[in-house]
Amino acid sequence: MKKRIAVIPGDGIGPDIMGEALNVLKVVEKKFGHEFSVTEYLAGGAALDVYSTPLPEETLSGCKASDAVLLGSLGGPKWDGLPSHLRPEKGLLGLRGGLGLFCNLRPAIMYKQLSDACPLKAEVVGDELNIMVVRELTGGIYFGKRERDGESAYDTMNYTKGEIERIMHKGFEIAQKRSKRLCSVDKANILSSSQLWRDVANEMAKQYPDVELSHLYVDNAAMQLVRNPRQFDVIVTENMFGDILSDEASQITGSIGMLPSASLSEGHMGMYEPIHGSAPDIAGKDLANPIAMILSVAMMLRHSFGLEAEALAIEEAIGRVLDEGYRTADIHSPGMKKIGTKEMGRRIAEAL
Ligand SMILES: NC(=O)c1ccc[n+]([C@@H]2O[C@H](COP(=O)([O-])OP(=O)(O)OC[C@H]3O[C@@H](n4cnc5c(N)ncnc54)[C@H](O)[C@@H]3O)[C@@H](O)[C@H]2O)c1
Repeated sequence: MKKRIAVIPGDGIGPDIMGEALNVLKVVEKKFGHEFSVTEYLAGGAALDVYSTPLPEETLSGCKASDAVLLGSLGGPKWDGLPSHLRPEKGLLGLRGGLGLFCNLRPAIMYKQLSDACPLKAEVVGDELNIMVVRELTGGIYFGKRERDGESAYDTMNYTKGEIERIMHKGFEIAQKRSKRLCSVDKANILSSSQLWRDVANEMAKQYPDVELSHLYVDNAAMQLVRNPRQFDVIVTENMFGDILSDEASQITGSIGMLPSASLSEGHMGMYEPIHGSAPDIAGKDLANPIAMILSVAMMLRHSFGLEAEALAIEEAIGRVLDEGYRTADIHSPGMKKIGTKEMGRRIAEAL
C-alpha cells in the first residue's frame, strides 16, 4: 500500500516522541511491504517562530493533500503571552476545522503491566480495561451561540439530525469491530438536543442489528465510569459530554504518556496524536514516554488505512517491551528497568 503522511512534530516533547514513532513506522513499512511517504510541516509554536502564524497555509494544504496526519503536541510557556488568535492552540483548532475532523476517538486502555498506576481499586477495574470514547467534535455547545450581557449569559447547544447521524455511524461501525455493544450518552430527560440525539440513535440502530445499543444519562455515565468501568466498551456522545467523559476515562488508566487519540473526517482522512500536551518540563531530556505517539501510529494504520494486522503488531510489540519490565520514568515502579525515550522507541521497533 502507498500512502502520504503529513507529520507535524510540533513543540516541547513533540519532536522527541515523533522521531521514535517514525522509526516504528519504518519497521512496519519494511515488515509488511508498504510505502509511506512522510513530509514534515510546522504548526503551533514552531510555526509562530518562523512564520508568525500557528498554522501556515503550506501546513494546512500539505495536510489536505495527504492521506493522514501525525501530530506530536503544540504549545508551551514561550508562547503563553501571545494574543488568543496567535496562540499555538489556534493551530490545532485550525487543523480540526480545515480538515473537517468531526469525530474524536479516545481509547482509554489500562495495560495489565501498569495496573498499579490506576487510581481505582483492583477489584473494580480487574486486570485490563479498554474503553473507546467516540466524541462529536464540531457541534454542540462549544460551537453554539454565546452571549454575555452584564449579569446574564447564555450558551446554546445545537445539533442537527445530519450531525448526529454521521457520528452515530462512526460509533456503530467501531462497535461492530469490537464487542458489538454501543452506549450512547445524553441528557434526554432535560435537553431537546439530547432528545433528538436519542431518537436518531434508536432509528439508526435498525441499520446495525448486530450491535446492542444502550443509553445512559451523562451524570449516570460519569458515576458508572468510576463505579464499574468494565461495563463499557464503546461510548458515543456529543462534544462537551465527550470532552469530560474521555478525560475521566483516560485518568482511570493512570498513565498520560500511554494514550493516543484520533480525529476523523467523513472519509478516511484522520489526524492522530497523543492525548498529552507538549510537556515542556521534560522536552529534549530523553525523559518523555513515546508510547502514546507510537500508539497513535497504530490508530492511523487501523482507522485511516484499514491495516488491522499492522496496528495489532505495534500494540503487541509494546506489550512485549512492557512485559520485559522496561519503563520510562512516568510509568516506572520499583523493580522495573528505567529507560529513556530513545531506548523505549528502539526496543519497541526491535520487538516489532
Ligand atoms: N494537543 C496538544 O497539542 C496539547 C494538549 C494539551 C496541552 N497542550 C499544551 O502543552 C503545554 C503543557 O501542558 P500541560 O503541562 O498542561 O500538560 P502536559 O500533558 O504537557 O503535561 C502534564 C504532565 O504530564 C507529563 N507528561 C506529559 N506527557 C508525557 C509523556 N509523553 N511522557 C512523560 N511525561 C509526560 C509532563 O511532564 C507534565 O508533568 C501547554 O502549552 C498546553 O497548552 C497541548
